[in-house]
Amino acid sequence: MNIIKDINKELKEIFDKAGYKIEDIELKPSQRKDLGDFQINDCMKLASVYHKSPIQIANDIKELLDKDNKFTNVNIAGPGFINITLSDNYIIESINSIVADTDKLIEPVSDKTVIVDYGGANVAKALHVGHLRSANIGEAIKRLAQKLGYKVVGDAHLGDYGRPLGFVETEIKRRYPDLPFFDENFDGNYDDIELPITNEDLEEIYPIASAKAKEDEDYLEEGRVITNKIQHHEKGYYDLWKRIVDISKADIKKCYDDLNVNFELWNGESDAVEYFDQLEEITKEKGVVRESEGAQVIDVAEETDKIDIPPLLYIKSNGSISYATTDLCTLVQRKEEINPDEVWYVVDHRQSLHFTQVFRAIEKLGLFKQDQLIHVGYGTMNGKDGKPYKTRDGGIMTLKALLDEVYESTLNRINNDKVTKEEAPEIAKKVSIAALKFADLLPSVETDYIFDIEKFTDIEGKTGPYVLYSTIRMKSLLKNAQGMENDEISYIDEELKDMYLSILDLPNVLEKAIKVKSLNDITDYLYLITSQFNTFYAKNKVLTEEDIQKRTTWLALTKVLLSISNTLLDILSIEVPEKM
Ligand code: ARG
Repeated sequence: MNIIKDINKELKEIFDKAGYKIEDIELKPSQRKDLGDFQINDCMKLASVYHKSPIQIANDIKELLDKDNKFTNVNIAGPGFINITLSDNYIIESINSIVADTDKLIEPVSDKTVIVDYGGANVAKALHVGHLRSANIGEAIKRLAQKLGYKVVGDAHLGDYGRPLGFVETEIKRRYPDLPFFDENFDGNYDDIELPITNEDLEEIYPIASAKAKEDEDYLEEGRVITNKIQHHEKGYYDLWKRIVDISKADIKKCYDDLNVNFELWNGESDAVEYFDQLEEITKEKGVVRESEGAQVIDVAEETDKIDIPPLLYIKSNGSISYATTDLCTLVQRKEEINPDEVWYVVDHRQSLHFTQVFRAIEKLGLFKQDQLIHVGYGTMNGKDGKPYKTRDGGIMTLKALLDEVYESTLNRINNDKVTKEEAPEIAKKVSIAALKFADLLPSVETDYIFDIEKFTDIEGKTGPYVLYSTIRMKSLLKNAQGMENDEISYIDEELKDMYLSILDLPNVLEKAIKVKSLNDITDYLYLITSQFNTFYAKNKVLTEEDIQKRTTWLALTKVLLSISNTLLDILSIEVPEKM
C-alpha cells in the first residue's frame, strides 16, 4: 500500500476531469506546514500550455478537491500553489489497515533477477577497511532488493587469481623447500600433507612476499613462473594453491559472519577464468581484439566521451590475463549459469574506469547491454586527516583491528545497571557492529566519510546504538503492556499525525533507496521514526493512561513502529540485542 502514489494517481485523474492533461503529478511535502501537509506545484507548468493563469487552473482543481473527503483545508497560495491536507479519517483508516501487518506497506517494484557482486575479498590477504563498505552496502542493497521483489543472488567474487598467490607460494617455497608440494617426484596424496601454515601466517607472508618481489629480480621471476604453474593447474603448485584458498576462505567467511554478511555464491576469479576459452571464441568472432605494444587490447572509447577512455587491457604483454579480463570471463560465466537481467557491482568508486571499460567491452561482445550492468561505486572511510583510514603507525587497517577497536569502545559504554558482566561481551558485539554499520550506511553511498569512533558508538545522536536503544524501548513498552489492547488506531493529534505520515511514507523511502542504490534514506528514516517515538514516549505515560482509546492507539502505534524498525534493521543486516 502506497497512499502517496495512490493520491498522485487520483490527482492526475482530477486534473484530467478539470480539462488539464498532465503526465505525472507529484504531491510534495509542504514547505509551510501551517498552510497544509502537502502541496501541488503543477499549476504553473500547465499555465503556459493552456494559456491561463495558474490561479485560474488552481481554482478549477480546488473545486474538485473540495468534493473529495480524503482532503481538507484545500487552499491556494502565492501565484498558484495548491495546499492540501489529508483528512484525519483518511489517515486513520490508512494506518489502521497496516497495524496487523506492516509489510502491506511494501510493494514489489521488480521481479528481475540480479546478481549483486560484493565483498571482493582477496585470498591470503587480510580484509581491510575498504572491504567493510562493500560488505555492508552490498548486503543491505541485496536484502532491500529481495524485499522489493527482485530475485537476488549475492556473489563474494573472491580475488583468488593472479600473481599475488604466486608470490605467496614463492615465499612458502623459500621457507619450506622440502614440502612435497614442490617435489616433482611426489606421488602421494596432497590432501594428507600437513601444512605448517595458518591464516595468520598467510596474512604475514603476503606483504613480505610482494615487497620482496619489488626489490629482488630473481624473486619476481620465480613468482612469475610459479603463478604460471598455478594457472596451468600444474601438480603440486596447484594443489598448494587450493589449500591456501581453503585456509583463507574459512577465515574470510568468519569475518563476514561477524558482520552478518552472507553470500549465496562463493565464486572466485579463478572459477571465471575457466570460461576464458569461451570468451576467446566470442572475441575472435567479433574481431574486437588488437595488438598494442606487445599486449592485446579491446578499444572501448566512444565518440561522445568527454574524458579519455583507454582500451581495455585484454592480455598483458607477458601473456597473462588482466583483471579486466577476469571480469569479462565472470560475465560469460554468469550469462551461462544464471543469465541475470542485471549485475550490480558494489565496489570502491576508484574502480569506475575499470568498470566502464568492462561494461563497454562486454556490450561489444553482445553478451550484456551496458545498462544491465551497474557499478555502485562507494566512497572511502577516511581518518581525521581526510585520507583512507590507517593504523596509528600509518599501516593498512585490517578489518579485524577495526572491529576490535569499535568493540572496545562499545564495551566501555555499556550500561552496567542493565547488563551483567557475563552478558556484556555478547551485547557489546551486537551494538558495536550496529554502530559501525549504521555509520557506514549513513552518508550517501558515493561520499567519503570520516571514521569517528566516539560519535559512532554514542547512544545519543544519529547512530546505530541510538536506533537500537529506541527499538528495544518500544519492545519493552509492549511487553510491559501485555494484556492491554493494541490492535486499533482511532485517535489523532498533531504529533501522532506526523508519525502516521512518516509511517505511510515508508514505501517511498524504500523505492528511492533501491533506485539510487544507497541506504542513506533508510538510515535517515530510521532515525526519524525512532526520534519521533522517543519524543512522544518522553511526553506521555502510556501504561497509566486512563483514556483507553488513547492508550490503545499509542500501543498500536508502538507496535507498528517496532515492526518497521525491525524490518529496516534487518534490511541493513543489523541485529537487535535483547537489551543494552
Ligand atoms: N578483489 C577486488 C579488490 O579487492 C574487488 C573485486 C570487485 N569485483 C569485481 N567483479 N571486479 O579490489
